[in-house]
Amino acid sequence: MSVHNQVKRVTTHVLHEMKLRNEKISMLTAYDYSMARIVDQAGIDVILVGDSASNVMAGHETTVPITLNEMIYHGSSVVRGVTRALVVVDLPFGTYQGNSKEALNSAIRIMKETGAHAVKLEGGREVLESVERILSAGIPVMGHLGLTPQSIHKFGTYVVRAREEAEAMKLKEDAILLDNAGVFGIVLEKIPARLAGEVARSVKTPIIGIGAGNQVDGQVLVLHDMLGITQEFSPRFLRRYHNLHQEMLGAVQSYIKDVKDLDFPNEREQY
Ligand code: KIV
Repeated sequence: MSVHNQVKRVTTHVLHEMKLRNEKISMLTAYDYSMARIVDQAGIDVILVGDSASNVMAGHETTVPITLNEMIYHGSSVVRGVTRALVVVDLPFGTYQGNSKEALNSAIRIMKETGAHAVKLEGGREVLESVERILSAGIPVMGHLGLTPQSIHKFGTYVVRAREEAEAMKLKEDAILLDNAGVFGIVLEKIPARLAGEVARSVKTPIIGIGAGNQVDGQVLVLHDMLGITQEFSPRFLRRYHNLHQEMLGAVQSYIKDVKDLDFPNEREQY
């Protein structure tokens, strides 16, 4: 039987076991109780309370503005809806880059105030001291390399990262540094599939890809993108499993029509 089917609760150890058995890890984002319940009931392995909440929940252009308090609000809402998946909360921009003590304080707030199981942060060598300090407090950490959206103003664009040799080398070194530090997983975003596969084979920790091909240990997508709620975002790596935007639009339009036509509520829908 697969590890996925055996466990009642997904832990970081379960993810490690899945990598050893070459069993793929499924991960999606969620930001609220109701969606998290559905995603968890469907049997997802990991739920990421991503700072993409800044885009899909708050309507900001980037992930930069979201605050620690806002991430804690989303994180605690998700945790209340989950019984099986491992819940990871993103440390937002500006809450861990300053120094490792600040990083640890932010991670502790997330763990205490949300009830989540782990935190994720972006970067390699630059944030290694913070990663080590958070880990030393017993908090599981997930890394994030490649396209790191919190640095969008440095990159200037969302194009594929690490196509050039120098950047690919740095990414491989960063992945090994994070792996040796003891992270329980690394997200690789929007990098060439061959490079992502090479990284996945050279580290012990599970590698979760988004736009990083199929040679990695698992996949993550933003829930609102894969459900087709968002429309304007259409990168090549995104597979849409539904057109919820269309469905919701139709449902709301039907409701408006029924109210205007005095069709709702009918006899059976009143007291
Ligand atoms: O914030 C987020 O949704 C993420 C995923 C894209 C991995 O970091």
